[in-house]
Amino acid sequence: MNPTQRVPMSSPDITDAERQAVAEVLNTSSLSMGRRIDHFEEAFKKYTGSKFAIGVNSGTAGLHLCVRAANIHPNDLVITTPFSFVASSNVILFEHAIPVFVDVEPGTGNIDPLQVAEAVRDLSSGDRAGKKWLPRKMDVEPQKLKAILPVDVFGQPADYDALNSIASDYDLVVIEDSCEALGAEYSGRKAGTLGDYGVFAFYPNKQMTTGEGAVIITDDSEAADLMRSLRNQGRAPGDTWLQHTLLGYNYRLDEMSAALGEVQVSRLDEMIDKRAVVASWYYDRLSDVQDLELPTLSPMTTRMSWFVFVIKFSESIDRDQVAAKLGDLGVPARPYFLPIHLQPYMVSLFGYEKGDFPITENLGKRSLAIPFSSVMTEDQVEYVCQSIISVIRNL
Ligand SMILES: Cc1ncc(COP(=O)(O)O)c(C=O)c1O
Repeated sequence: MNPTQRVPMSSPDITDAERQAVAEVLNTSSLSMGRRIDHFEEAFKKYTGSKFAIGVNSGTAGLHLCVRAANIHPNDLVITTPFSFVASSNVILFEHAIPVFVDVEPGTGNIDPLQVAEAVRDLSSGDRAGKKWLPRKMDVEPQKLKAILPVDVFGQPADYDALNSIASDYDLVVIEDSCEALGAEYSGRKAGTLGDYGVFAFYPNKQMTTGEGAVIITDDSEAADLMRSLRNQGRAPGDTWLQHTLLGYNYRLDEMSAALGEVQVSRLDEMIDKRAVVASWYYDRLSDVQDLELPTLSPMTTRMSWFVFVIKFSESIDRDQVAAKLGDLGVPARPYFLPIHLQPYMVSLFGYEKGDFPITENLGKRSLAIPFSSVMTEDQVEYVCQSIISVIRNL
């Protein structure tokens, strides 16, 4: 590979079939709320086996509707992970509820069910034991623990057998943030179907894309009706265009995105398989490199749906220096994730400090996402790997 040619961080996988599907929509007068969204939702019901699928215009919107459907009110508590993209915590804050962070497993980066069990027990006891799980700065009286919102990090489901058993003992809703894990399987069951509601997101770096967009899946008909109404400005089924039964949002997915998504979902397994091949090229070339840890898969992950490829450096390596040097070689790389509790707005809202969630912080300090997509070539992977190896050697 010519080193002056930049390897893209990610690339959508688009064929003529997608181009044609979008062009066909543009030749009609129905650019929103037409039949494409119905087809798109049907395709998701079929793919996941869920009873209901609701297309929306972002993963954030989808998760927000789940929080609404779960009856989460101001000052209620929701257990979630600080090792995620900010949207999974933000949707809790949108409803003025309180995200209660629980640290993650060091291998997978997914929320640690043992700590969740402890937190749920303490928070439900009604005595002082619960206090240690709450943010140190809070000027409101915490209300009821209502839900767990786990995230299927990097394309690998969290440990839902353990999480669901805790949730059922304490009557909690489980909102599965599967925005990064469409197509993954946990013990033979599809990601997104593992909690009460699941959300997949389709930004262009995801396993499939609609440009912007997402889909919520659930078997709960009442929740599905509510979500359909809320995505469409709170219109109930009998409402006219200017009648609004509920306070809602415009979270609708347009017809071009739905048409694009319908073709993409028909190619999804092929694209996930291609991503698995790219991941295997990385494992082949990087497994024996000193000071480097490759992603860990849980034995419960019966199918990984690679979203990003995140490597971890040993403590002695300055990850940010490696990223800068890779950038000079035309290899983009990003720290992934930066802990949510240390984001400036979270610090100012809740007074979090360094050291509050040590495993998350450790992963956040050592992790680097390297170029990844289903259209990456073996030459590109080879170049990225050679660059990483030479940068580490010459630090
Ligand atoms: C874990 C996770 N949750 C939520 C989202 C939000 O999705 P969107 O960007 O479509 O709003 C993302 C998107 O990257 C994500 O990775």
